[in-house]
Amino acid sequence: MRIAPRSKGADIECYNKLIYLHAALCEALRLYPSVPFQAKVPMELDILQSGHQLDPSMQIIISMYAMGRIKSIWGEDCYEFKPERWISEGVLAFNAGPRTCIGKNMAFIQMKAVAATTISSYRIQAVPRQTVIPNVSIILRMKHGFKVMVSPA
Ligand code: HEM
Repeated sequence: MRIAPRSKGADIECYNKLIYLHAALCEALRLYPSVPFQAKVPMELDILQSGHQLDPSMQIIISMYAMGRIKSIWGEDCYEFKPERWISEGVLAFNAGPRTCIGKNMAFIQMKAVAATTISSYRIQAVPRQTVIPNVSIILRMKHGFKVMVSPA
């Protein structure tokens, strides 16, 4: 499917048809969540499913980056990039429950628009032999970036 860079209005519907691209974006966000960790505080005494007791003086740090790499959640192939695993599941990277990211749908439309127009117009190849490592911060960034070679498709 080719999406015109300046498409607007009703054309937004066509992004819903990009099922595999949607799954690929979910898979990228599983391994590299833009918000790699979150902090939560219970409003009242509570007990987690694990049996841990919580009270409002406690703060829980949840690492989405680590959770995306847990074999008991994702299986033995948790380090592999496999968009297929998302064809029927939800997206952890946007949080869950009543505080789910309200920009989730907008973020997906933006990501799909950029990916679809870029992929159809350019050939993008990773520069070989570079080391890409994360920079630990509230927003997940690459410490030295990720160099690519861009040429016309
Ligand atoms: C890939 C893109 C994005 C990711 C991974 C993301 C992720 C998240 C996460 C994890 C939270 C929950 C934070 C917490 O409760 O600790 C959140 C909240 C939120 N996000 Fe996003 N977000 C994205 C894009 C956007 C966009 C494009 C918008 C607005 C246009 C947006 C607006 C918000 C707002 C307003 C909240 C607060 C919701 C609330 O507390 O009730 N986000 N986002």
